[in-house]
Amino acid sequence: MNKDAASRREFLAGVAVVAIAATNRTDIAFGTTLNNYANTENHMPFTLPELPYAESALEPTIDAKTMVIHRTKHHQAYVDNLNKALDGQAAYANWTIDEICQQMGSIPETIRVAVRNNGGGHWNHSMFWTIMAPKGQGGSPSADLAASIDKSFGSMDAFKKSLADAGMKRFGSGWAWLIVKGDGSLAITSTPNQDNPLMKGFVDVVGTPLLGIDVWEHAYYLNYQNRRADYLGAWWDVVNWNEVNRRFDTAKK
Ligand SMILES: [Fe+2]
Repeated sequence: MNKDAASRREFLAGVAVVAIAATNRTDIAFGTTLNNYANTENHMPFTLPELPYAESALEPTIDAKTMVIHRTKHHQAYVDNLNKALDGQAAYANWTIDEICQQMGSIPETIRVAVRNNGGGHWNHSMFWTIMAPKGQGGSPSADLAASIDKSFGSMDAFKKSLADAGMKRFGSGWAWLIVKGDGSLAITSTPNQDNPLMKGFVDVVGTPLLGIDVWEHAYYLNYQNRRADYLGAWWDVVNWNEVNRRFDTAKK
């Protein structure tokens, strides 16, 4: 590992400690704490994170069967295939999933497609579970975040409409994101497949995701069939603003 990489690992280790400390909190109003938040403290072999609420807790917006299949089949497959792709790659044995996404260009070409698809799938879904909460238990946008949203998009309603538009315009499968860019400004973007805005060099807009909505059909088909717009409209009932606020505060530091 070169010096820059070593410094970067030290820095990220510090970030991970802060993140773990922040997520060991007990002030959330539902379920367990978010100790497994995005598995940021983990590395190979990666594991499926626990849900911070019951599988039925997001009903009627997201039904329990969809949650079970989504997490234990789709997300589990991303975890398994990521571990398979990185098996025997000693250089990446201690890389967190954040580092893998952020430094995708350093992954050997022979395994990069598999790591990009499955590593992205693991990161994206680990985040997705934590930014949802049972209806009425997700809090509301902090004053800071609400002000930034107003400044960037005009109003909360305009922001929600723009994010839904990004999700609707994503042809096929992918994600719609609210991110903080390097200059501190907020932006809405979308990515195909399991790419995410951490993947510098592989996506149009790079930034730190505050919130991402899964617009793969597997996320909504049982309940909404082809009605992606209805899913995107209903999804706001289960957004966990407390976690989005925490991500915003962390990203600004
Ligand atoms: Fe998904």
